[in-house]
Amino acid sequence: MPPSTVLISGGNSKAARQLITTLLNHPQCPNLRILTRSQGVETLKRQFPLLSTLPHSIIDGNFMDEATLLPSLQGVSIVVYNGPSIDQNETCLASHEVEARHSQDEINPTHYMQDVSLGHVMRTGKLPLGYSELVEQGFIDLRDFAMVLRLIILDPMKHNRATYELVTENKSYLEVALILQEVMGRDVQCEVIPPATYLAMLKEENVIQNEYAEDMVERIMSASSGV
Ligand SMILES: NC(=O)c1ccc[n+]([C@@H]2O[C@H](COP(=O)([O-])OP(=O)(O)OC[C@H]3O[C@@H](n4cnc5c(N)ncnc54)[C@H](OP(=O)(O)O)[C@@H]3O)[C@@H](O)[C@H]2O)c1
Repeated sequence: MPPSTVLISGGNSKAARQLITTLLNHPQCPNLRILTRSQGVETLKRQFPLLSTLPHSIIDGNFMDEATLLPSLQGVSIVVYNGPSIDQNETCLASHEVEARHSQDEINPTHYMQDVSLGHVMRTGKLPLGYSELVEQGFIDLRDFAMVLRLIILDPMKHNRATYELVTENKSYLEVALILQEVMGRDVQCEVIPPATYLAMLKEENVIQNEYAEDMVERIMSASSGV
């Protein structure tokens, strides 16, 4: 039986927005309660006007703050937790959220295809990378990820306590560049940036905000260096 109310956090993440799209388009869409920090509220209202109308709602909150976390869990039968990327609070936020739950599914997707900045590639013909273009990466289309989440949400008992590792395709970025080249009709080259420059770039873009994230990214880069 589909659940009555589903809480989705961080509601303004790429994955959550795909999930909201696929749920709102489904005839059995449950009541959606979206938890997002304040920056996300207006973005979500604009992208999904339906969320401003009951039975759906958007809550301005943060999982580190019990004052917003506890009320947002009231009457919820399923929580979809999607936390900050490469953040020391990633696990802590997740445990905050599951403390009150009886059952938990774990869904581990690989690298999102949508993380490639198509606009940048189209403008410059360059695909910037912090690691070797020859190493295969697992990719998943966020739309497929959202479809899997929807299947679980609409029939949760079938998936009780399950863990899913999701991957659609393994490809090196060299192969990705060739596909983009064909689709975009322009030359596309991988631009492998030296690790220190790549780290500095991620810091400037605020993707890396602390020592923990820097260490994580360094480990990922070293594992994907192809050496
Ligand atoms: N990108 C990938 O290829 C990939 C692949 C597999 C797994 N993942 C995992 O998926 C999760 C999300 O990553 P993403 O790339 O999808 O990033 P994203 O789209 O930027 O989503 C991250 C979300 O985390 C929430 N968040 C960030 N800082 C927070 C904080 N201090 N307190 C509470 N919430 C916070 C935000 O939600 P609001 O803005 O709505 O508050 C944000 O939208 C991470 O756990 C990441 O490890 C990512």
